[in-house]
Amino acid sequence: MLFDTHTHYDDEAFDEDREPLLTSLPAHGIAKVINAGATLASNEKTIRLMQEYPFLYGAIGIHPEGVKELNEEKYQWLKEQCGLEKAVAVGEIGLDYYWDEPEKELQKYWFNRQLKLAKEMNLPVIIHSREAAKDTIDMLRQEWTETMTGVIHCYSYTKESAQIFLEMGFYFGIGGVITFKNARKLKEAAAYIPIDKILLETDCPYLAPVPYRGKRNSSLYLPGVVQELAAVKGITPREVEEVTMENAYRLFTKVPRLGTER
Ligand code: NI
Repeated sequence: MLFDTHTHYDDEAFDEDREPLLTSLPAHGIAKVINAGATLASNEKTIRLMQEYPFLYGAIGIHPEGVKELNEEKYQWLKEQCGLEKAVAVGEIGLDYYWDEPEKELQKYWFNRQLKLAKEMNLPVIIHSREAAKDTIDMLRQEWTETMTGVIHCYSYTKESAQIFLEMGFYFGIGGVITFKNARKLKEAAAYIPIDKILLETDCPYLAPVPYRGKRNSSLYLPGVVQELAAVKGITPREVEEVTMENAYRLFTKVPRLGTER
């Protein structure tokens, strides 16, 4: 059984077949799914999906590209949603310097506020960090405490940076990118990161693994990621499945184990 720790099933790419697709996941070995909020609207949709699908959980948070719509009132709304039973993380939050907008200071301000929110609500964080390794590390270090934990989603940095995140106890989300031809840096990092710190994720509808690259991604393609990760780590796909499942339960403590759901 697999745990897809990062999805966007609220995305319009799933408007045509969301219900049959999601309903089919458990029969295909996808036991648990976390849908990550990115905008206020996608958080609302995430909450609806949490109510509709027993195996689906939510991360509540605003993506760095969406922070312009935040203010105190909306922040309070986010905080209230973090108290929901099936809200299992704060995310996805972070820094994205790939585009010029929103300005770095605004991204940093809301990243810091949402890190503090996670601490206050005692929830793990799901971090989106692109071309912003140094600032991400600095900001995490500034807020870091013994109990703070989370995952660097879609890990894209070097193994040297991985060592720093590991020292802070973070997990690493690995998905379709590891199957790409040009994934040498990621494979190097994945070989270095201990298997008990790796989580499986799709980031669907984005980043479909080879041979579906460029197409709409879904949790159904996770086995391709498992295969590649098994090859990189020199273990069996079965071991990758079992260990990453345990890792996800260890990090997302609000997600009940299979068969113990209420
Ligand atoms: Ni995402």
